[in-house]
Amino acid sequence: MTADRIDELRAEATAAAEAAPDTAALEELRVRYLGRKAELPNLLRGVAELPPEQRGVVGKAANQARQALEALIEHRAAQLAAGELDARLAGDRVDVTLPGAPPQPVGSLHLMTAVRREIEDVFCGLGFAVVEGPEVELVHYNFDALNHAPAHPARSRSDTFYVATAQRPADPGDQVVLRTHTSPMQIRSMEAQPPPIQLIVPGRVYRPDSDATHTPQFHQVEGLAVDEDITLADLKGTLLAFARAIFGDERDVRLRPHYFPFTEPSVEVDVSCFMCAGTGVLPRTGVRCNLCKGTGWLEILGSGMVDPNVLAGIEAHDYDPERWQGYAFGMGIERIAMLKHGVPDLRLFYDNDLRFLEQFG
Ligand code: DAH
Repeated sequence: MTADRIDELRAEATAAAEAAPDTAALEELRVRYLGRKAELPNLLRGVAELPPEQRGVVGKAANQARQALEALIEHRAAQLAAGELDARLAGDRVDVTLPGAPPQPVGSLHLMTAVRREIEDVFCGLGFAVVEGPEVELVHYNFDALNHAPAHPARSRSDTFYVATAQRPADPGDQVVLRTHTSPMQIRSMEAQPPPIQLIVPGRVYRPDSDATHTPQFHQVEGLAVDEDITLADLKGTLLAFARAIFGDERDVRLRPHYFPFTEPSVEVDVSCFMCAGTGVLPRTGVRCNLCKGTGWLEILGSGMVDPNVLAGIEAHDYDPERWQGYAFGMGIERIAMLKHGVPDLRLFYDNDLRFLEQFG
């Protein structure tokens, strides 16, 4: 009777364990068949009270049944736990390639930044270093050291932002201005290092002008190269390489005589018009080219050979003008960007209208 019951319990528990859907159900089964109040352990505890001839048989069968059930439940528990872990891992998987919700616009560089970097890249490729300098500058660096005569019109109050200082300096050169150009960095750079020198200076400059082609604050890139045996041909070759990199391989440059206080001789530099290929008329239609006003040339910068007076004024190092020559140039970044991208009004750069800015993403 008892041995039959053990077989029955063993078969029932085995079938139930094999069918258990999850670890929680299996745990319930373990308690039901092997727990302290369960029938099989009770039978085992009662073996001592059985008639002696039954004790061995029943005890052995009950023990085997309990061990077999324990092993089965343990095996099944491991199986179920592994399946449940797999399911959890699959459910928790994060697809890091999915776009954000909603996708965020990433923005783009402002046209001024993009063109400045483009110019920097070209000159870096030609071996120029990039340096920056103060926007609030001494009159000495902005004018005097650059050979501006005391009566030069750029010094007038209507052409330059003077900065009020607590006391009016005794030396007029110590007056403070918002720099009107990046050229003062020619002097500061030469004071900071001996020749040879080859660098560009991007940065903001300030003048009290305001119309479609002038804003009170704008950007320039200055260039300076000083070495032995530098000639105007080096200047022209460098600017030709620059013009071609920015405006296209077909471009040409020409130098026109001009005047700047700190270069001698001084030139203005034109690049052949990329709209009409330098012809002054548009292909096919024969209409006068609007960009270059029919001239075939676009003015892009001022330049020249560094005036010997400027070199001689550098006291910190030996820039003896008998030994060292140099060239310098200065361009407006806005002007380069306007020409290259056909921007009709300088103020568009500073209105921060996304409809304009997004066109250059
Ligand atoms: N500083 C001049 C300006 O703002 C531009 C310039 C002309 C810079 C000739 C130069 C140069 O270095 O050689 O109008």
